[in-house]
Amino acid sequence: MKPISLIQFLIEERRANHINAELSLLIEVVARACKRIAVATGKGALGDVLGNAGTDNVQGEAQKKLDVISNEILLEANAWGGHLAACASEEMEDPQPIPDGYPKGHHLLLFDPLDGSSNIDVNISVGTIFSVLRCPDNAVEPKAEHFLQPGTTQLAAGYVVYGPATVLVLTIGHGTHEFTLDREVGSFVLSRRNLRIPEATAEFAINMSNQRHWEAPMQRYIGELLAGKDGPRGKDFNMRWVASMVADVHRILTRGGVFFYPMDAKIAAKGATGKLRLMYEANPMAFIVEQAGGVATTGRQRIMDVQPTALHQRVPVFLGSKQEIELATRYHMDA
Ligand code: AHG
Repeated sequence: MKPISLIQFLIEERRANHINAELSLLIEVVARACKRIAVATGKGALGDVLGNAGTDNVQGEAQKKLDVISNEILLEANAWGGHLAACASEEMEDPQPIPDGYPKGHHLLLFDPLDGSSNIDVNISVGTIFSVLRCPDNAVEPKAEHFLQPGTTQLAAGYVVYGPATVLVLTIGHGTHEFTLDREVGSFVLSRRNLRIPEATAEFAINMSNQRHWEAPMQRYIGELLAGKDGPRGKDFNMRWVASMVADVHRILTRGGVFFYPMDAKIAAKGATGKLRLMYEANPMAFIVEQAGGVATTGRQRIMDVQPTALHQRVPVFLGSKQEIELATRYHMDA
């Protein structure tokens, strides 16, 4: 079969009335920017891209050089295209308006330019996550409040994982699809259509070093998995943790599994409501996972139903294979 490029795929989706021209162009621009990020990450020690930038982001976290470079690549690529009303980044306190003199569009773009940045210096997969919303009609100068829409209103979401291969995973609400970057040709090529996450799994991802801080229902759920064949679940479970959500989610979309970043006492002591960001990480990943037949909750509520109250809001994240996420969520609801 002839390979289908991302551009061809988007044209087909336009013909099927799944997407309009402006959104299709916006996705192309994001994909193009991610190719540049892939080149930057691929340079490693030869490109002066490793190590800290010497600055903190809005969350008070030390920024890596590649966090800053990736953020700038995405901002610059999206400034002049004419399909955006504004964008917001995990790395910036306030939304970025479209610079004067450039045409404006009808969409809002949110992104985590480089997720899993603790992995950069040790040459492990990192990624970019993005989400697209419609800009409310009356918003002349979109502000944070215009971005505060629940995940169910997302028009598109995707991530790019910069691993042994650079892979883009995309949903526009009609299934979840995977494109692999053909480095020689420079284009993303459809590699898997309609990814499906199996309902059952025997593999979980969680940062076990936080175990003593978890709430009782999480202790119970993971305790049962660890008990293996002789425990109440009657089977052995395997564990993986990359510390890049993109890489962990990509594994789940490839062979099933579940990912948890639950609430814990350490997070609560900082006055936070979770570790991962609702708008830049949880919502786009929830959309991608649900479109592949998986489930995504906060442990107590469907992630995409959460009404955001702040641009940088954090939430607990449970996502992946349906049976396990439903069970872990039930333990939390019943507690
Ligand atoms: P960051 O982008 O700040 O590196 O955060 C990464 C996120 C997510 O991608 C990953 O699953 C999680 O944080 C890792 O958390 P731990 O450091 O607790 O393992």
